[in-house]
Amino acid sequence: MVAATIPRGPRGGRLMGNMREFNSDSLGFVERCAREFGDVVPTRFLYVPALFLFHPDQVEYVLAAGSKNFIKAASLRSPFFRRLVGNGLVTSEGDFWRRQRRLAQPAFHRDRVEAYARTMVAYAGRMLGHWGDGRTLDAHEEMMALTRVVVAQTLFSADVSEDSGEIGDALGRLVRPFAAQATLKWILDNRLPTPAHLRFNRDVRKIDRFVYRLIEERRASGEDTGDLLSMLLAAQDEDGSGMSDRQLRDELMTIFLAGHETTALALTWAWYLLAQNPGAEARLAQELQGVLGGRAPTVGDMPRLRYAEWVVKESMRLYPPAWAVGRECVRECEVGGLRVTKGMQVFGFQWVIQRDPRWFADPLAFRPERWGDESISRIPRYAYFPFGGGPRLCIGNYFATMEAVLILATIARRFRLRLAPGHEVEVLPALSLRPKHGLKVRLESR
Ligand code: HEM
Repeated sequence: MVAATIPRGPRGGRLMGNMREFNSDSLGFVERCAREFGDVVPTRFLYVPALFLFHPDQVEYVLAAGSKNFIKAASLRSPFFRRLVGNGLVTSEGDFWRRQRRLAQPAFHRDRVEAYARTMVAYAGRMLGHWGDGRTLDAHEEMMALTRVVVAQTLFSADVSEDSGEIGDALGRLVRPFAAQATLKWILDNRLPTPAHLRFNRDVRKIDRFVYRLIEERRASGEDTGDLLSMLLAAQDEDGSGMSDRQLRDELMTIFLAGHETTALALTWAWYLLAQNPGAEARLAQELQGVLGGRAPTVGDMPRLRYAEWVVKESMRLYPPAWAVGRECVRECEVGGLRVTKGMQVFGFQWVIQRDPRWFADPLAFRPERWGDESISRIPRYAYFPFGGGPRLCIGNYFATMEAVLILATIARRFRLRLAPGHEVEVLPALSLRPKHGLKVRLESR
């Protein structure tokens, strides 16, 4: 086992990955690291040593086989994150996390999730009520509004649609800094009283009040609606005590934020890629015509919507909504022949690994049908990991995949989405991978 050393750059200089460089061009920076220094790259953020991983086997070690040696990355412990999601499923650790995960799990079982399908399709249909031939709109905004309503309705039986009043707007605004500006700088500056931060704090308070009221009303009614909120409310420790309102709030907020931005992005990038690949778009339309004829999809159609599922998978390969996963080492271990010491921040990058020609032929091409090739079963398990892996695997992976396929099918059988002329699509790697200026599209009825 050798000690981690900082590799030398091509001109003999040290690779000092600093925050500014990382912040100004994160994707370019990590791509350069992989190209110039290989699969395991030690670097630093200011004084904090970090390790970048670009090989599936090393990612597998950190997320799965060696996961006991790691906790979530330090960035998740920032005051910004704490204020937003507290000690919910994404951020909690150890036995506490294990218990919470066990309690939430039934809401994400296959049977339960399939019962949400009808709601997903119904809300997608409702959205199409204001779509029309020739209209130009922002597909990213539309997908965000849709997945927001779906997650709140299916898991908390709460109505957060625009017409439900200002809570929908506040949620929309809240996710913007969460997603768009949550660079390290924004997070560190969060305590400064800038207008954006004041508005952020005001919105969090407003949503807090909404979530606490939801909890209070459900407690008071004693009704078991069979949703996630009911399950968490019914959960009790051996001593008979239930979860505190504060903990319930953290879990709801976490699920809400983790559960809609990402799915909206998977769909947004799928529209972007389909618009540029008429062959794939035509093949999707053909499948939808064959399977659905003129009707809306149901969960029973899922096994036959194979191409639609490949479109979603291939979109998440090229534009993974979670473009990196981070951990902090808590027990010394070895990764890719390097010693990793306590406190080191370790990152695996979907953005780089899922575009690596070692695992994907013609890696930058959008080829949904590659997921039907027999050879795809031979790639390493962590060559494709949009939902992470190991014990902290995304709890909503099936929920998200089903939702994305059903929404894609509901929309694509009615409309073709063309990129609006002159609209520039730029990738913004914030907490998730977003289109910086949205995705302006022109609708064409089928
Ligand atoms: C395409 C959509 C989605 C993507 C790409 C995605 C991605 C991820 C990833 C990469 C992780 C692991 C993070 C890590 O290991 O540090 C994760 C965790 C998580 N996701 Fe998702 N997610 C999606 C949809 C959802 C949905 C729909 C929900 C809930 C409704 C959800 C809830 C969660 C939760 C609660 C965790 C933390 C799980 C734990 O640590 O026990 N996600 N997600």
